[in-house]
Amino acid sequence: MHLQGLLFLPLALPIVHAGFKATRPSCRCFPGEPCWPTVQQWSDFNATLGGKLISTVPIGSVCHTSGAFAAYDAQGCADLLDNWAYPTTHYESSSSPMASWFANFSCDPFLPHRSCEIGSLQPYAVNVSGPEDVQATLRFTRKHNIRLVIRNTGHDYLGKSTAPGAVALWMHNLKDTQHLQYTSPSYNGSALRLGAGIQGYEAMAAAHAHNKVVVSGNCESVGVAGGYSQAGGHGQLASQFGLGADQVLEWEVVTADGKLRRASPTENSDLHWAITGGGGGTYAVVLSATVKAHAELITSSANLTFSGTDVDPAVFWEVVQTFIVDIQPLVDAGAVAIWAVAGSSFMLTPIAFPGGSLQQLQAGLASTLALLDQHNITYTYHIEQFDTFWDSYAAMNPHSNITEAQIGGRLMPRSVIDSKIPALISVLQGIADEGVVISGVSLNVSRAATPRNAVNPVWRDAAISFVLGT
Ligand SMILES: Cc1cc2nc3c(=O)[nH]c(=O)nc-3n(C[C@H](O)[C@H](O)[C@H](O)COP(=O)(O)OP(=O)(O)OC[C@H]3O[C@@H](n4cnc5c(N)ncnc54)[C@H](O)[C@@H]3O)c2cc1C
Ligand SMILES: *[C@@H]1O[C@H](CO)[C@@H](O)[C@H](O)[C@H]1NC(C)=O
Ligand SMILES: *[C@@H]1O[C@H](CO)[C@@H](O)[C@H](O)[C@H]1NC(C)=O
Ligand SMILES: *[C@@H]1O[C@H](CO)[C@@H](O)[C@H](O)[C@H]1NC(C)=O
Ligand SMILES: *[C@@H]1O[C@H](CO)[C@@H](O)[C@H](O)[C@H]1NC(C)=O
Ligand SMILES: *[C@@H]1O[C@H](CO)[C@@H](O)[C@H](O)[C@H]1NC(C)=O
Ligand SMILES: *[C@@H]1O[C@H](CO)[C@@H](O)[C@H](O)[C@H]1NC(C)=O
Ligand SMILES: *[C@@H]1O[C@H](CO)[C@@H](O)[C@H](O)[C@H]1NC(C)=O
Ligand SMILES: *[C@@H]1O[C@H](CO)[C@@H](O)[C@H](O)[C@H]1NC(C)=O
Repeated sequence: MHLQGLLFLPLALPIVHAGFKATRPSCRCFPGEPCWPTVQQWSDFNATLGGKLISTVPIGSVCHTSGAFAAYDAQGCADLLDNWAYPTTHYESSSSPMASWFANFSCDPFLPHRSCEIGSLQPYAVNVSGPEDVQATLRFTRKHNIRLVIRNTGHDYLGKSTAPGAVALWMHNLKDTQHLQYTSPSYNGSALRLGAGIQGYEAMAAAHAHNKVVVSGNCESVGVAGGYSQAGGHGQLASQFGLGADQVLEWEVVTADGKLRRASPTENSDLHWAITGGGGGTYAVVLSATVKAHAELITSSANLTFSGTDVDPAVFWEVVQTFIVDIQPLVDAGAVAIWAVAGSSFMLTPIAFPGGSLQQLQAGLASTLALLDQHNITYTYHIEQFDTFWDSYAAMNPHSNITEAQIGGRLMPRSVIDSKIPALISVLQGIADEGVVISGVSLNVSRAATPRNAVNPVWRDAAISFVLGT
């Protein structure tokens, strides 16, 4: 995020410094300008932080022979290119965005003939280990009128965790977890306090140790307390328990005025409402989120792929339509389906039914499979019932890669599935015919009780979250 987000905090907090021109990002002090802090000032700031200031070295430097950061290393470069698609390559770094467009080809390892410059990457990151680091950074960036950005894993596809000329608060190393019995007017029960750097797979493991589950992403490396729960957050438990945001009992934050605060439905309740769905990097710097932990449950899961290459397109889309419509009762009963149409292929990877039996899941998919059989379309299909959600997720959830695609999305209202399905199918077909990858997540995030929060209310009527990639 950019600092003006923090400064326009729509709450009664006394934060805006008189005369501070927050409305025009061009007014921020930029590297190379006379206002930019001196080497000594950066060094003093680093000392205040106990040495936690990181000067960015672009990860692409190993692929370059010219430029300020060139550090050519043939093996290092080959390894980087081989591993570029994996989220870990980026989230272990303090500066690399997964949506490479927002790096603006700065020190791009795939363009070795260009010089390696900092470009759009932020020049500094603070390796945050507690609230004091956040407070010191807010003081420093405000004093010097420097852009501030909050970076956790770098998953954000709108580039909101990247900013040129900025100091990044790098939250990745806040890795504490704590299991607790939570008591409040709105919830009594098991909960997990998750440090801001905790990722999906770590949250799941922390819950698993207590025979519990927590809502987290299909992509296991998304940061739970970061952009995920602050913006909505869906995953294979979302039809059963609601969105990631719906799980958050309290936030521990530092607001732009430098104050450490707790935000819950009973304490700073306006701030709790806003952060819970209002979007990452907008209202405060989150240090931890305390989320509901639910009892483990049996989970049935299935995957299905088929190709439409030798299939009449009308038949292919009839199968897709049957699938979308006929899984709806499963979704209303707690299932989540992650599916895609790419080129002429359909992939279901997977449909997970937490709390559901193999027979129930099989019954819900029967009409789709029957149609495939009827048209002699070959497919691969696997269905299994697991004792726990943990086992199902481990066996059936493929690892997610980053993508070069430009992505955008739509939340499709349930009414479209119920009463305009032929129109929807014809639109999807037109999109797919243009070579656009269609990713759909069929889910129902309003069957569980939904707490009052700032989640986009359109989610509550949505049947499918579509993401289109070009
Ligand atoms: C491969 C891939 C798979 C994905 N799969 C899913 C999925 O299954 N379900 C789903 O719901 N979403 C998914 N997403 C989207 C993901 O949830 C969002 O990109 C989310 O914003 C990532 O949050 P982050 O904190 O990990 O990432 P970052 O990019 O580091 O941060 C995202 C936003 O949150 C802000 N932020 C981060 N940490 C904090 C903090 N501590 N305090 C305040 N603001 C903060 C940042 O400034 C930025 O605006 C996926 C994304 C990718 C790239
Ligand atoms: C900050 O100090 C630490 C420890 O002295 C040092 O390793 C690091 O390089 C310094 N950071 C910057 C940006 O100078
Ligand atoms: C992820 O990227 C790796 C390395 O490029 C590749 O081998 C793998 O097939 C990709 N996985 C998916 C699911 O796309
Ligand atoms: C992106 O890079 C180009 C050329 O390298 C430069 O002209 C442009 O200003 C950059 N854009 C941003 C937003 O930094
Ligand atoms: C960041 O801090 C953590 C401790 O909180 C430390 O383990 C890690 O090595 C540091 N990373 C960098 C790149 O300085
Ligand atoms: C939780 O327990 C407290 C008393 O211990 C009670 O006041 C509160 O109403 C309970 N909340 C719920 C949701 O049951
Ligand atoms: C499917 O195959 C069977 C047997 O091979 C054949 O009788 C039938 O006509 C085929 N159906 C279609 C729709 O092609
Ligand atoms: C479906 O799941 C099985 C069992 O986990 C796995 O072996 C197979 O590769 C999966 N198929 C797809 C297309 O993901
Ligand atoms: C969600 O499921 C419930 C039944 O469990 C149903 O009443 C509701 O209409 C569904 N909502 C959506 C958006 O599908």
